Amino acid sequence: MKRKISIFGLGKLGVPLVACLIAKDFEVIGVDLDFRKVESLKQLKSPVYEPEVQEMLNKYGKKLTVTLDGIDAVKNTDITFVVVATPSNLGGDFSNKFVLDACNVIGQALKQKAGYHLVSITSTIMPGSMEKFIKPTLEEISGKKAGKDFGLCYNPEFIALGSVVRDFYNPDIVLIGESDPKAGELLASIYPSICNNKPYVSRMNFVNAELTKISINTFVTTKISFANMLARICEKLPGADVNVVTGALGQDSRIGTKYLKGAISYGGPCFPRDNVALSTLAEQIGARSDIAKATDTFNRLQINLLADKVQEYLPKGGKVGVLGLTYKVDSDVIEEAAGFLLVSELVNRKINVTAYDPLGIPPSKFILGDKVNFVESAEKCIELADVIVLTTPWKEFCEVPASKWARDNSPRVVIDCWGIVNHLKSNKDINYIQLGVGV
Ligand SMILES: NC(=O)c1ccc[n+]([C@@H]2O[C@H](COP(=O)([O-])OP(=O)(O)OC[C@H]3O[C@@H](n4cnc5c(N)ncnc54)[C@H](O)[C@@H]3O)[C@@H](O)[C@H]2O)c1
Repeated sequence: MKRKISIFGLGKLGVPLVACLIAKDFEVIGVDLDFRKVESLKQLKSPVYEPEVQEMLNKYGKKLTVTLDGIDAVKNTDITFVVVATPSNLGGDFSNKFVLDACNVIGQALKQKAGYHLVSITSTIMPGSMEKFIKPTLEEISGKKAGKDFGLCYNPEFIALGSVVRDFYNPDIVLIGESDPKAGELLASIYPSICNNKPYVSRMNFVNAELTKISINTFVTTKISFANMLARICEKLPGADVNVVTGALGQDSRIGTKYLKGAISYGGPCFPRDNVALSTLAEQIGARSDIAKATDTFNRLQINLLADKVQEYLPKGGKVGVLGLTYKVDSDVIEEAAGFLLVSELVNRKINVTAYDPLGIPPSKFILGDKVNFVESAEKCIELADVIVLTTPWKEFCEVPASKWARDNSPRVVIDCWGIVNHLKSNKDINYIQLGVGV
């Protein structure tokens, strides 16, 4: 039997999840407090940008109902996923405020509902939150017991914006923290009809699942930073090339090749803050987290090092062009993105900056206004700059012909953080610098 699903939170993650579920024939009720998002989705217009999502809404929209009424949504479905924001507090831990607000509504619905219901928290939360705050809130408001009258799970997703659909359908792992076996089994039972692969399903208690979620992201940030450390070392070693080193390193099965490309800082809405949250947790409970802290410190340093490198090559009064503002390709998110942070740092250093990104200009303009000259194409950005820095590996940057990068009076400097235009290396009218390569 196909379960009916309600989803609280129609944001960057919630909307793609809705689209993925309706495309797999689930009936879904989407709930949000934001009237504009609800109205937009009622017209089947995605309020967020994510590849494939609009097409899926167009095709499978009949399976979707959208509402502001959370109580009704819970009463008319079997499983509720909570995918609301958990913003970082100043201390680095995550706020449960929106999750608890949602649980308040869900608790009221559970009180009125006769049958069994499963509540599953998808939002990233601090370890301890399920037992200390979320379960007690649901139990108090509903007057019912988790694990007996209703099921409760923690089931975070391991997706990246820009590839949410692919990641959601092909996870390496389905992580489930459960109040009791019935709840875990019910949640696990829907994944075979969602996934295109056969992921490892890992079921455990709440706190282990909560810790696993932020540990996975912290481990990946550490791996990225290790590769970046090697890249910075290679740059000072003539003949060294980080891609050659990490390419071989990754063949060791204890290490693996993924996320081992020496380039620039990691960013986005998850990696930096999940890493910091692990350190905050450790501090709160009197444990040490030196490795996570070192990773974060080293990562933040990368932008300054890159800005220093730009200045090293910049003629007096010269102009810098930055290609790439988003934290990864196929996303419009600029949060903690290397390109956006570099532009901000260069502006602080009173350097004249031109920038281009296929999707990242509107959010960048919103913050930086006219402090930066945002242009409408990669070619224009290149044309106006003495030093070009390529910070996000968008495919369209590779498609700009070599003749547009070159400049005959004095070679244009191209700092390629990802090595994606290394065909420019042999062009005498370009001073090509690839990060992670020693000269
Ligand atoms: N965006 C990602 O890449 C990503 C990846 C993995 C995990 N996560 C986690 O998923 C959660 C959601 O992230 P996001 O990026 O989608 O956030 P978002 O800010 O884009 O969207 C959150 C949505 O929740 C809605 N909301 C808030 N309170 C609500 C309530 N009480 N009832 C109904 N709706 C409510 C907001 O109006 C908003 O539309 C966060 O915990 C985040 O850490 C996000």
